[in-house]
Amino acid sequence: MQDPFSELMQFNLGVPAEKSKEIYVEDVRNFLIQQQIFNGAMKEIRTKLEILDEEFRVLFDHNPIHHLEYRLKSPRSIIEKLRRYDLPLTLDSIKDNLYDVAGIRVICHYVEDIYLLRKLLLQQDDLNLVRERDYIAEPKANGYRSLHLIVEVPVYLSEKTTKMSVEIQLRTVAMDFWASLEHEINYKSSGDIPDEIRYRLKLCAEDIYRNEEEMQRIHREVMENYLERKTSEAGK
Ligand code: GTP
Ligand code: MG
Repeated sequence: MQDPFSELMQFNLGVPAEKSKEIYVEDVRNFLIQQQIFNGAMKEIRTKLEILDEEFRVLFDHNPIHHLEYRLKSPRSIIEKLRRYDLPLTLDSIKDNLYDVAGIRVICHYVEDIYLLRKLLLQQDDLNLVRERDYIAEPKANGYRSLHLIVEVPVYLSEKTTKMSVEIQLRTVAMDFWASLEHEINYKSSGDIPDEIRYRLKLCAEDIYRNEEEMQRIHREVMENYLERKTSEAGK
């Protein structure tokens, strides 16, 4: 990992030129402290998700989560995003304007698992929903599907409690398969995918979704029989 300090030094964090080096160093220190708090918020959400996943494994022999990915936005991307939206380069501005500094991607097995986790997370008292974008109910024009939640969670520190936002992207293994490849194709085409490829990618997304709806139905039928059998065996 690139040293965040040296990365930050390449940018003008909005510090006036007349400010001394000591003050600049203090700003960088405060930035790193804020990153640590975002990291804490990300851990809180990961733990909540892992607890729910384990509970479902014990109760129903089914893990809703296939795997979790997470990352903190790099200092470079944070500064680039603030500049892109013409926002002030300050710590308050990062906290108030950027919802995706802490990001978690939850890769689920089935679409039903996504909405189950959404419900169970949002009913927790210490978690606030800030924004929701349901690209499963309404996929993006290119075919992208996922459920995006921005939540706020309290992080308990030695001298204060502070609420931080975390972006949670929930998607199935199949949606992740499409999104990863589309991302790479987009990158390789420098963001300018030819119309014909764009169209074929969209058809792929729709085929994948039809298949996963059928897999979901199969899973539901098998699970119903499995749980019935288990209950009757337990009653013997
Ligand atoms: P950002 O300014 O990028 O955060 O966009 P936004 O605030 O409008 O959020 P949005 O919910 O549209 O997308 C945020 C994230 O979702 C992106 O950083 C990607 O990780 C993912 N994403 C959104 N659209 C696509 C897409 O078309 N393809 C792929 N592969 N990923 C996408
Ligand atoms: Mg983003």
